[in-house]
Amino acid sequence: MNQSADHLHVVHAAARLEHVRYAIRDMAVLAEQLTREGKTILPLNIGDPLQFDFRTPPHLIAAVEKAMHDGRNGYAPSLGIPEALEAIRAEAERKGNRQIQSVFLTAGVSEALDICLTALVNAGENVLTPCPEYPLYSAILAKLCTAPNAYRLDEANFWEPDVDDIRRRINSGTRAIIISNPNNPTGAVYSRDTLKEIVELARQHNLVIFADEIYDKLILDGEPRAPLAALAPDVPVVTFNGLSKAYLAPGWRVGWGVASGPAAAVKPYLEGIHQLLRARLCSNYPQQFAVRPALDGPQDHITEVRAKLRSRRDLTVDALRSIPHMSCIAPRGAFYAFPKIDIADSDEDFVKKLLAEKHVLAVHGTGFGQAPGTKHLRIVFLPDQATLTRAYQCIREFVAEHYA
Ligand SMILES: Cc1ncc(COP(=O)(O)O)c(C=O)c1O
Repeated sequence: MNQSADHLHVVHAAARLEHVRYAIRDMAVLAEQLTREGKTILPLNIGDPLQFDFRTPPHLIAAVEKAMHDGRNGYAPSLGIPEALEAIRAEAERKGNRQIQSVFLTAGVSEALDICLTALVNAGENVLTPCPEYPLYSAILAKLCTAPNAYRLDEANFWEPDVDDIRRRINSGTRAIIISNPNNPTGAVYSRDTLKEIVELARQHNLVIFADEIYDKLILDGEPRAPLAALAPDVPVVTFNGLSKAYLAPGWRVGWGVASGPAAAVKPYLEGIHQLLRARLCSNYPQQFAVRPALDGPQDHITEVRAKLRSRRDLTVDALRSIPHMSCIAPRGAFYAFPKIDIADSDEDFVKKLLAEKHVLAVHGTGFGQAPGTKHLRIVFLPDQATLTRAYQCIREFVAEHYA
């Protein structure tokens, strides 16, 4: 039936979506338009290693393929298959997480965070989120009509969380704190002292800690770090990880949560999490068979990934620091840099013009939240050296042309 414009009933999206932003994909839409016009885009925007010269380890692909041929194509158990859960638990224990109360598999860290936040917060409560942040955190909280309570990451202190700011922000409605370490978008790796101070605040104020450690195997300088949960056996912690980054399989959507803390204290909360895990049936079944081979099998590819990232990080920091109006704290983990730009324009105008004129795609700092008055870019340094070198040359020319 053809409806005339007079009778058209417009279907509006829910008002709570007003606070959902995802600048990373929004910028990609602008870039797709240019691609359709035949332009070649230099992509510094998306944290997907598979778009660059990184490939999923063949033994993981073989494990998933075998699972499919073996008929593992039905529904999985809601928490995940036992062999994967055991491998995750054993690895977490090896890393020093000693009070594990539950392990569960999800469609990426994204679903794990969604379920764990949904199972925790009530209307009117709030959750401490980093600023700048990985935008998924606020997007989930927006769905829950829960206010993010954004704490400062301190650029002048290597982007470490500002513990005094966290302390000031805690109020009677604060239920949890989200820690992204190694951090997206800054690339910071937090000091043990800072983590211990945060744990102490959580202990005093009965906060649940959400430790998003998806980049923990991509620390570029120094030794691997103990998980936050190892510093906090007496505090409720959910640690998140998965196959998306270090195991180079983001499209498989395999992530997990490891809940730890005193058994009696976390029991009702874990029942809530398990209830939601059952309600969504299960996560991807055949892909779960890659978890044990990933965690217990050869780790050689990670050494190669880190070596590539280290040289791309060095190139990035050297190039950005040599461009007028830019400064950059050297990232020490993950594959992101968050340089500051000192210009009169907004950072959103900067990235849009940079894309239109030089076909370099970065994301504006506003998309992640940032201290008022400051302007940043988020750069993904996954592309190869030649692409990065060309992209930074374009940024240099762009700055010279507009901000001499
Ligand atoms: C900090 C952080 N957490 C979670 C995710 C999402 O991970 P997954 O693919 O496991 O959902 C990302 C992806 O970029 C991320 O940067």
